[in-house]
Amino acid sequence: MSGSRELLISGNWKMNLTHFEAIQYVQELAALLRAGPLRAGRALSLHPPFTALRSVQTALESDSVPVALGAQNCHESEKGAFTGEVSAEMLSKLNVSYVIVGHSERRQYFAESDQLVRAKADAVLRREMTPIICVGESLEERESGEALPKVSCQLEAAIGGRSAAVVGGLVIAYEPIWAIGSGRTATVEDAEEMAAHIRTEVERLAGEEAASFVRVQYGGSVTPESAGDLLVCKDVDGLLVGGASLKAESLYEIARAR
Ligand code: PGA
Repeated sequence: MSGSRELLISGNWKMNLTHFEAIQYVQELAALLRAGPLRAGRALSLHPPFTALRSVQTALESDSVPVALGAQNCHESEKGAFTGEVSAEMLSKLNVSYVIVGHSERRQYFAESDQLVRAKADAVLRREMTPIICVGESLEERESGEALPKVSCQLEAAIGGRSAAVVGGLVIAYEPIWAIGSGRTATVEDAEEMAAHIRTEVERLAGEEAASFVRVQYGGSVTPESAGDLLVCKDVDGLLVGGASLKAESLYEIARAR
């Protein structure tokens, strides 16, 4: 088991669900959670697209649904002339708790560098929200034995030089790029090996206490069938779920697995 760390199961909807669909989703999830609450030590967050954040916030708060609100991205600047962008302050005013930064789709399709990912994490932290910092290797890097050094490099860029208190409060999501949306989940052994590696690197960069508190999620083609084995890994403290989070029932089953 993962010691005393709370397990966080996060549904990343990506560019899916309108705000109408989102409201219906929250109602379904709320009914499931009322009928069968999650066991102690497990928490859920939902990461809708920006257009549905306000609707999801209202639906969660009006019914006191025990689910945290999350976002998928934000801009690194406080405010200004950045047409089409959304700031961390705007998210914090919607009671967003978690913001995903550095998702591989952002790195790949929107050319986000390690430096930019760090600046985005800074922006999220300034507004007292928790960044979920994504790291992970490509298939080519895995096959050439470069997976561990690649992740070390991404981690160093994102968390190096930060205080132990800040690092201990972070969520790091290990998402091997080859597993995302591919139907090919990493094996439990691969997920545990990398989660343990991430914790060792966190210890090197920010000390033992930070390493014992930081939460490490696994993400990449997680399903209700694969979730249970992943959630019992010693160093895996939760899951970042894309495709299988698009139905309330499926995300709920994942959060209830084992
Ligand atoms: P997937 O996406 O579950 O659809 O593979 C995971 C993610 O990208 O967060």
